[in-house]
Amino acid sequence: MNAMRNVFGVDVGGTGIKGAPVDLARGDVAQERHKVLTPHPATPEAVVDGIAEVVGHFGWSGPVGMTFPGVVTANTVRTAANVAEKWVGVDAARLVADRLGGLPVTVVNDADAAGVAEMNFGAGRGRNGTVILLTFGTGIGSALFVDGRLVPNTELGHLELNGHEAEKRASTKVKEDKDLSWPHWARRVQKYLAHVEMLFSPELFIIGGGVSRKADKFIPLIEGITAEIVPAELQNNAGIVGAAMVAAAAER
Ligand code: BGC
Repeated sequence: MNAMRNVFGVDVGGTGIKGAPVDLARGDVAQERHKVLTPHPATPEAVVDGIAEVVGHFGWSGPVGMTFPGVVTANTVRTAANVAEKWVGVDAARLVADRLGGLPVTVVNDADAAGVAEMNFGAGRGRNGTVILLTFGTGIGSALFVDGRLVPNTELGHLELNGHEAEKRASTKVKEDKDLSWPHWARRVQKYLAHVEMLFSPELFIIGGGVSRKADKFIPLIEGITAEIVPAELQNNAGIVGAAMVAAAAER
């Protein structure tokens, strides 16, 4: 059996830190995932404690892939729009590895991780050309693929739309905070997709984040977009699976 078959994936989000060993052959969690609440403020020390609790729950001692909701280059955090500013400049892999007794850790942007999982095991399987996954949640995350290859850290949630940052207008957090109806929110998402389409002309938009479970409430309301629009298939576990896949690739 391939020793790299299982790698741990942990997804650091605005509300929860969740993780599980991932079966890389199936692209799914190998055991039921464990979740702790994201501490507030989400400082590096507090989040790392949460990660250690999730990983420790499984008595895990192998490679770990972790997502982060900001730009990550060479395992170092470059931006932190929705978590504590103190993360910027932190080598997150080293910080987490030290806390986990030296396990190998790889860090990847959360939307990029979800995209990698969807392209391999979900709605993007076998799709060539330009594919964009957008995750709607606390912010808006993006993952851009060209013929299956990821262009990392695209950060399309911060595009400007009518003088506002797109994620401040069209995230699901905004929908909830402002109590927007599905049609009202769908109009904002439509405007946003039109803008992204103008820039990249993708063949496919994959809509991810928790709201993908309710895709039937808003995707049919979106008009005037040439690209196909489909909900993500892996939903809640995409970040966990994708983080583990990226970590496995880094080990090779
Ligand atoms: C961050 C992205 C992240 C997205 C979703 C944005 O505010 O800048 O890096 O992917 O939120 O969490």
